[in-house]
Amino acid sequence: MSHARYPSLHDRVVFISGGGSGIGATMVEAFAAQGASVAFVDIDKEGAAKVVERAGAIGQKPLFIECDLTNLAALEAAMEETGQRLGPITALINNAANDTRRDLAEVTEADWDWAMAVNLKHQFFAAQIAARSMRAAGGGSIVNFSSVAWMTGVPKLSVYSAAKAAVVGMTNSLARELGGDNIRVNCIAPGAVMTERQRRLWFNDADLAKMIARQCLPRAIDADAVASAALFLAADDSGMITKHCLVVDAGMR
Ligand SMILES: NC(=O)c1ccc[n+]([C@@H]2O[C@H](COP(=O)([O-])OP(=O)(O)OC[C@H]3O[C@@H](n4cnc5c(N)ncnc54)[C@H](O)[C@@H]3O)[C@@H](O)[C@H]2O)c1
Repeated sequence: MSHARYPSLHDRVVFISGGGSGIGATMVEAFAAQGASVAFVDIDKEGAAKVVERAGAIGQKPLFIECDLTNLAALEAAMEETGQRLGPITALINNAANDTRRDLAEVTEADWDWAMAVNLKHQFFAAQIAARSMRAAGGGSIVNFSSVAWMTGVPKLSVYSAAKAAVVGMTNSLARELGGDNIRVNCIAPGAVMTERQRRLWFNDADLAKMIARQCLPRAIDADAVASAALFLAADDSGMITKHCLVVDAGMR
């Protein structure tokens, strides 16, 4: 899929978490194709190497920094390295997450803490760090990742859903707090996006057909549909849009 061109994204320093696979990988490529200076972090080194190669072939070669986002010191170091090597981060895409499913009875306190760390906590602290460089640069755009899972109710995803609902509240509060510094804060809530992981773990052909039957638009959602929304929210074309949750679910919820 080809995306709209956004001149304001040319040379913009964009930091993307979880760019080693799935929607994040598609966004790394989509931003690179716009001529943006992209840095991304992930724990998946092998996946990231392929993304660097693919993105480099269509745009500016992205900077990959290996980082486990549950380690906040490592996240801060990666964002500082990005600033030193590419310039001040003015677009932050808080994408990384883990949707591991667990029965209510099985969830331990450690599981809860880990799910909050991988799905919510890093988004807040990445925003805190990015806001410094955005303020100094005169503005920026933060795009957080929620999910329709918390709106529809998906069994065995209660902790993930709690984190993803919290992302919307956090987005609204940060949008109020940072608007005076010309920093916009929005979030994207994807529906069922057919990434490699979703197909491998949760969606065989029959599951996919059932999901499509729940949507207004009867076709599978691919990662490019979400990347389109992220490009728009990062670009100046969405300059008066903040505190918004953009749902990309083909009308499923
Ligand atoms: N795919 C969907 O159907 C769907 C639906 C709703 C919401 N979302 C949201 O969209 C975003 C992207 O989803 P996706 O389907 O591409 O996910 P994915 O699981 O395919 O990819 C997530 C990426 O994040 C990385 N990651 C995970 N834990 C990490 C950690 N601790 N440190 C660094 N990197 C880490 C993974 O290695 C992976 O590359 C997520 O926020 C997800 O919650 C996706």
